[in-house]
Amino acid sequence: MKGKGIVVGVTGGIAAYKAAELVRLLVREEAVVRVAMTANAARFVAPLTFEALSGNRILCDMWGPEAGAMDHISLGQEADLVIVAPATANFIGKMANGIGDDFLSTMLLAATAPVLVCPAMNVKMYGNPVVQKNLEVLKDRGVTVMEPGEGQLACRSEGKGRLPDPPEIVEEAQRLLSPRDLQGMRILVTAGPTVEPLDPVRYITNRSSGKMGYAVARAAWRRGASVVLVSGPTCIAPPRGVDFKPVRTAFEMRDTVFALAPRTHVIVKAAAVADYRPKSTADQKIKKGPRALTLDLEKNPDILAELGKTDTFSGILVGFAAETEELLGNAEAKLKAKNLDMIVANDVSRKDAGFETDTNAVKILFREGRMEETPLLGKDQVADLLLDRIKVLWEDRGERRRGD
Ligand code: PMT
Repeated sequence: MKGKGIVVGVTGGIAAYKAAELVRLLVREEAVVRVAMTANAARFVAPLTFEALSGNRILCDMWGPEAGAMDHISLGQEADLVIVAPATANFIGKMANGIGDDFLSTMLLAATAPVLVCPAMNVKMYGNPVVQKNLEVLKDRGVTVMEPGEGQLACRSEGKGRLPDPPEIVEEAQRLLSPRDLQGMRILVTAGPTVEPLDPVRYITNRSSGKMGYAVARAAWRRGASVVLVSGPTCIAPPRGVDFKPVRTAFEMRDTVFALAPRTHVIVKAAAVADYRPKSTADQKIKKGPRALTLDLEKNPDILAELGKTDTFSGILVGFAAETEELLGNAEAKLKAKNLDMIVANDVSRKDAGFETDTNAVKILFREGRMEETPLLGKDQVADLLLDRIKVLWEDRGERRRGD
């Protein structure tokens, strides 16, 4: 989002206070933020708050000293995105009917930038057919409308009408600002660990946090792909917009992946699937005894290897390799043995790469023998780079089946 020009339009609803957090988050993402407020919004939050957060003068009154002669024209045309948050029922009605009676509504009439509207109001007001009709009119004109959140509203009513949480709005803005170069791609990503139960209380698992796989899923969604995320248990929220399929064991992950594989163009296996599971799972909690406890483990299905052999999936197959030694040799062996198009190797003995970290450094090996190495990057950056390489494979593949 660095350097992107974003106009945040704030209208007169109690959720105007949450717009301050939205501006703070956008500035943290290094966007250049201008705030335009309606007079009613300024009754809820002082313009000075937004001036301090955005570092720019606030635009409120068309005729005020702060407004440049042509700001109401140029602002919505020079911006990369206009976000109206919160958008009240009244302001939505003005937008839908082309009314420009203050700076913000006039600016929107002349705007050529993409517009994101985030409605926030009482649940009954939101359900009012005239409000719903106005929202449909805006959608028909290409405005992106975010669904409000559900829950307790400021007016103590319960239901749909809450302003989406600011991080969700930022996520949606990221998507609108991203090139939709993966539009049409159906991608399945696996992430996180699997858990293999020992008894009702204990299980075997590993250190995967899900961050790497979730970053691939998030980046793919932002870039317009249709994304299914099959994930073992993690402590991080699934990215917006993806079809989230939680699983626990390797068997559950395999069944879910194979059920979806036929309709999928690309599979990225970032999950840390347990290679072994306890031979038997006790019905009751295993009691501590005087002697050591020996675990008898048996092999789990190798999902990636099975995908490399099956004829029910003919798309781009991408694996990961988690190694602590012989990184290239081990990754190359897996690339060949599992019939992959690409494998992403990471040295999980590093403190700044692999499991649980926010960063990763990977070596990418391709079927035809090419190898590419990345420096240490954020996992979101690694994800975008992997998707850039996958996109080339997908475009080259066209309709040809994998391995033809
Ligand atoms: O989740 P994070 O905390 O962000 O950590 C990221 C990660 C380290 C988990 C990730 O970058 C990674 O390396 N994922 C693969 C982990 C793993 O299981 O690697 P492996 O070398 O053991 O397996 C090789 C490949 O086969 C992987 O694509 C794996 O998904 C797949 N596999 C492995 C075993 C199995 N039974 N079935 C599989 O499909």
